[in-house]
Amino acid sequence: PRLLVLHGPNLNLLGTREPAVYGHRTLADIDAALVQRAQAAGVALATFQSNHEGVLVDRIHAAREEKVEFVVINPGAFTHTSVALRDAFAGTAIPFVEVHLSNVHRREPFRHHSFFSDIAEGVIVGLGWQGYLYALEFALDRIAVTPQ
Ligand code: DQA
Repeated sequence: PRLLVLHGPNLNLLGTREPAVYGHRTLADIDAALVQRAQAAGVALATFQSNHEGVLVDRIHAAREEKVEFVVINPGAFTHTSVALRDAFAGTAIPFVEVHLSNVHRREPFRHHSFFSDIAEGVIVGLGWQGYLYALEFALDRIAVTPQ
């Protein structure tokens, strides 16, 4: 795929997980909308969710081998903890947008720091599941102007 969407821990519970915070859409709903949008643009997009930090690190390494051009990632709670995932992006130099469904800045102080934001192309927070779609629009623009 040219584009990869990564979802971190607990995002497999979307739809039932604190719906007041994260909304009613399931991860399958969100992934389907993203694949459909990419297909309309004629761009191959893969999605992947894991609750395991090392599995996500391995997926980012594999993405470099696959020549994935851009990643959209919601690192979930790893946002606030994972130097390893941050280093995977730094080490592969794959450009990415960081997405959060909720407005992390309106929540607990421990959610205010991200290990990703300063090396991300951009960050989308608090716009719900559509935040992924907005990030995808950006990614589609970006890869269109940067031929391989
Ligand atoms: C989240 C925000 C994180 O703080 C939290 O741990 C999540 C989801 C979001 O999408 O709003 O798992 O990344």
